[in-house]
Amino acid sequence: MSDKNITSVLKETRQFPPSAEFVARTTVNATERDRLAEWAERDPDGFWAEQAKSLHWTKPWDTVLDWSNVPHAKWFVGGQLNASDNCLDRHVAAGRGNKAALVWEGEPGDSRTLTYQQLLSEVCKFANALKALGVEKGDRITIYMPMIPEAAVAMLACARIGAMHSVVFGGFSADAVADRNNDAKSKLVITADGGWRRGKVVPLKANVDAALEKSPTVEKCVVFNRCNTAVEMKAGRDVWWHDLVAGASADCPAEPMDSEHPLFILYTSGSTGKPKGVLHTTGGYLLGVSLTHKWVFDIKDDDVYWCTADVGWITGHSYIVYGPLCNGSTVVMYEGAPNQPREDRFWEIIAKYRVTIFYTAPTAIRAFIKWGDQHPKGHDLSSLRLLGSVGEPINPEAWMWYHNVIGGGRCPIVDTWWQTETGAIMISPLPGAIPTKPGSATKPLPGIAAEVVDKQGHPVPANAGGFLVVKRPWPSMMRTIYGDDERYKSTYWSHYPNIYFTADGARRDEDGYIWVMGRVDDVLNVSGHRLSTMEVESALVHHPKVAEAAVVGKPDDLKGEGIVCFVTLKQGVAPTDELKAELKAHVVKDIGALARPDDVRFTDSLPKTRSGKIMRRFLRDIAAGRQSTGDATTLEDLNVLAKLRADDE
Ligand code: WTA
Repeated sequence: MSDKNITSVLKETRQFPPSAEFVARTTVNATERDRLAEWAERDPDGFWAEQAKSLHWTKPWDTVLDWSNVPHAKWFVGGQLNASDNCLDRHVAAGRGNKAALVWEGEPGDSRTLTYQQLLSEVCKFANALKALGVEKGDRITIYMPMIPEAAVAMLACARIGAMHSVVFGGFSADAVADRNNDAKSKLVITADGGWRRGKVVPLKANVDAALEKSPTVEKCVVFNRCNTAVEMKAGRDVWWHDLVAGASADCPAEPMDSEHPLFILYTSGSTGKPKGVLHTTGGYLLGVSLTHKWVFDIKDDDVYWCTADVGWITGHSYIVYGPLCNGSTVVMYEGAPNQPREDRFWEIIAKYRVTIFYTAPTAIRAFIKWGDQHPKGHDLSSLRLLGSVGEPINPEAWMWYHNVIGGGRCPIVDTWWQTETGAIMISPLPGAIPTKPGSATKPLPGIAAEVVDKQGHPVPANAGGFLVVKRPWPSMMRTIYGDDERYKSTYWSHYPNIYFTADGARRDEDGYIWVMGRVDDVLNVSGHRLSTMEVESALVHHPKVAEAAVVGKPDDLKGEGIVCFVTLKQGVAPTDELKAELKAHVVKDIGALARPDDVRFTDSLPKTRSGKIMRRFLRDIAAGRQSTGDATTLEDLNVLAKLRADDE
């Protein structure tokens, strides 16, 4: 099929039904999907109760959902379970201990496989080590690790003893680690000497050293030796992972946790300068991630599943660790960059491990397109049977390339919409149940009451833009913002009574398919990473030469959005190119390399309304300059999005 099928910019009419062969083996076919959706609509509690039987509960629940204290949901009240038990012990007890759990590939080419039995014993040893260090149920533990199996071991060990992990992406700066330590009042940090990225060692331990100078609550730091680089070990504070586990017992029974016991905090960017600690609890989260992993990825026992996210993001939590391990799947994990040593590294890994399901982000797909078809074409990708996309809208042309060049035209694509806050996938094709359309996440999953509404909360007509909301609570929803419940209520629940506000703009087409266009708040999506404009602004104004700053996104063909900073300087400061570079470096130091501005523009003043609000729409238009060369559909969406934004009122 060709571009001629795009009849209007708002209508992508190409449709791709799953093949008969795929449908024949699928877990949820069209009839089953309809049955589940109808059931969930008619009797949500009964529906979720039945699904939750897939988990191993040590004590059954009394009440499926307690929604009496809106917006604070409690799921499976009275029930008890342990996430680590569900991800490990259960499979070993069922005689599947020798199945590969993690198949790991390091950037330099080293590799390791951990079976479920081996992973369980590593987790038990490390959980015992944590206990020996004084970690107790309810303590917060920061994990700042490279993409190595020990990152998952650390998470599951926390879960085993009821400590809450707060994983901080390895690309964040020392200052960002300190902020998160302090907000969570972390007791302990787990890190590594470094991790491999593009042939270099990222100095994680050195960053932690700097962070710990400003993190008074942290008592100890556990260091895994990944790269054999020299690090400073502070006596009385720092301990080597290998020393700790050397004497630890591999017997550590999983402690039963209340269904609502907090499992983890994950910091994400919102509309203010301060990242928020999204809190997820045990039972509902585990149900959400395991069920969606089973349905959306149509998982079978013999699948080799690879999600290319980092465990530092929600995608890594839900779809590298908890979802797939809860389902007993074989998970591929890769440490490094997609272009190390060459641009074909991902395709080499797929061929090497015979990966069947591949889940990545549109920004990566656009980079692959740029690098050229010769890279995937040089490898045998015939093992693939299903492809996934997450993190940002996928433009139809990138979708088509993914479908044809990576999927060989035979693999369904699941474009999965969800958020750190939703815990699990919310809108996505069930690949054997629904024809896909390039650029649409299709329909909400059974049980998920997602809708597109106008300002008043009424459903919008077909193809009109509106706000994406969720009208009923769902098990894996966030429970609060750690330490700031008021912010939880005002951010997500104050726009409409009893309805969850996603801050995404979307439209629904005449077939009921949802097309998510992007954020309507001040959150940027840069290469699939969430960043708040205000976080970058506050970094800039901390620089002694800066008077004021306004940050906006601009369309970027590769990254989705680029970061443009408008800066006014203090009296007498000269606007030089050197200063631009200095300010960019300053933002990187404050937040991390992911926040490096693409463009810094000096200006004498910032355009403001009479009430003093910065006119962002105006700045966005300037930043975008001449329209980008993106797909027509995407450009039209950007216009609709602009109209939905609050500052365009
Ligand atoms: C965006 C990542 C369009 C959206 C799982 C959302 C998407 C934000 C999609 C959450 C998708 C994620 N299509 N947009 N398939 N998936 N988004 O918290 O704007 O890092 O609000 O979670 O990413 O980003 P987060």
